[in-house]
Amino acid sequence: MIKKCLFPAAGYGTRFLPATKAIPKEMLPVLTKPLLQYGVEEALSAGCEVMAIVTGRGKRAIEDHFDISYELEHQIKGTSKEHYLSEIRSIIERCTFTYVRQREMKGLGHAVLIGESLIGREESFAVILADDLCDNEEGKTVLYQMAEVHKRYPDKCVVAIEEVPLEETNKYGVIAGKEIEENVIAVEDMVEKPDPKDAPSNYAIIGRYILVPEIFDVLERTKPGKGGEVQITDALLELAKQGKVLAYKFKGRRFDCGSVDGFVEATSYFYKR
Ligand code: G1P
Repeated sequence: MIKKCLFPAAGYGTRFLPATKAIPKEMLPVLTKPLLQYGVEEALSAGCEVMAIVTGRGKRAIEDHFDISYELEHQIKGTSKEHYLSEIRSIIERCTFTYVRQREMKGLGHAVLIGESLIGREESFAVILADDLCDNEEGKTVLYQMAEVHKRYPDKCVVAIEEVPLEETNKYGVIAGKEIEENVIAVEDMVEKPDPKDAPSNYAIIGRYILVPEIFDVLERTKPGKGGEVQITDALLELAKQGKVLAYKFKGRRFDCGSVDGFVEATSYFYKR
């Protein structure tokens, strides 16, 4: 069972300026719920109890969101508005939130390594990038589906993938490998944000990972790659070469809420639902 989920949340969210000048991008709401809360709910659905959040300067709103607001509770207690808080209250009761600050932005791989102090090296753990918002109408979330795969292969990492148009491979980590069972691929190659002409396939990694603790050893020696940043994709490639990485074609929908277009699409999708 995966018990801990890491949420890298230190990024600046420059694509959403000026909205993200004083508000963390993870707190931007799709309808009435911040992106990060969708991620936390997904982690809970997969059995996680510890939410380990890698934050940065200017991100205090995240900590306040996942805590009791006595003043607010006092104001609305016994009124018709009380139900607005019931969902977040139940989340706060069901899990523990831990935080560490990433002082410098040196890439996703670096953020995961910073998270080691919250995760430890005893067990496999999940990683959710909250700006990839996922939904599954059949009730099984993407991370839940991935945890099921990991149960069958407990010594392997699992990354979620989906097919993207070839011209978009430069926005994602891209994998290639052999299908070993329906929707599960043993990864043989992976490249961070390749040009379409160099992409090994059009299977893009989306922001859901289950990682084995060995990833921390690898990250410690991973040199900066694409964009001068430490890439989780490069660290995973080392494990993939040892046959330790699976890619899973998830069932469901994913919205790139790191872009304005994806955010609008997600908002209208969830509104209609
Ligand atoms: C990160 C990863 C990339 C992955 C993507 C999924 O990139 O580096 O491999 O495909 O998340 O959203 P970012 O979107 O942070 O640039």
